[in-house]
Amino acid sequence: MDTGGLGIGIILGSTRPRRRGASVAAWVAELASTRDARYTLIDLADQGLPLLDEPESPAKGDYAHAHTRAWADLISPLDGFVFVTPEYNHSYPAALKNAIDFLWAEWNDKAAGIVSYGNAGGPAPRSTCAAC
Ligand SMILES: Cc1cc2nc3c(=O)[nH]c(=O)nc-3n(C[C@H](O)[C@H](O)[C@H](O)COP(=O)(O)O)c2cc1C
Repeated sequence: MDTGGLGIGIILGSTRPRRRGASVAAWVAELASTRDARYTLIDLADQGLPLLDEPESPAKGDYAHAHTRAWADLISPLDGFVFVTPEYNHSYPAALKNAIDFLWAEWNDKAAGIVSYGNAGGPAPRSTCAAC
């Protein structure tokens, strides 16, 4: 299958100083570079998103703030995503949840995959986590 026209965002979900996620995302991007889709590494730490501050539901797409419109403009043209996420308290980071919550239509009907990591192997649904 020719996937050369597809744009895939590799979203780095860890924002903390000295995060290991930067290395993981770089590794994912390196592996992805051998494939024929177009991959873009997106670092949430660069997006300048505050905690969700939109007055309307994102499902309305009526974004009041420039930071939301910039985030939407980055995500909207992409066809799919690879979320690179650590495990924080048996879940994923608040920064990643917040960034997802900002938008709605920009994520819809698109493919997504997850690369997870952490002290115990990364967040996973209970039904697939033999160690949980
Ligand atoms: C706030 C916080 C919560 C964590 N909770 C878990 C956890 O529940 N399970 C786990 O296996 N590791 C946990 N860890 C360890 C992280 O998964 C590990 O340090 C990982 O490297 C964090 O990714 P980062 O360096 O990209 O931020 C936690 C780390 C932090 C900072």
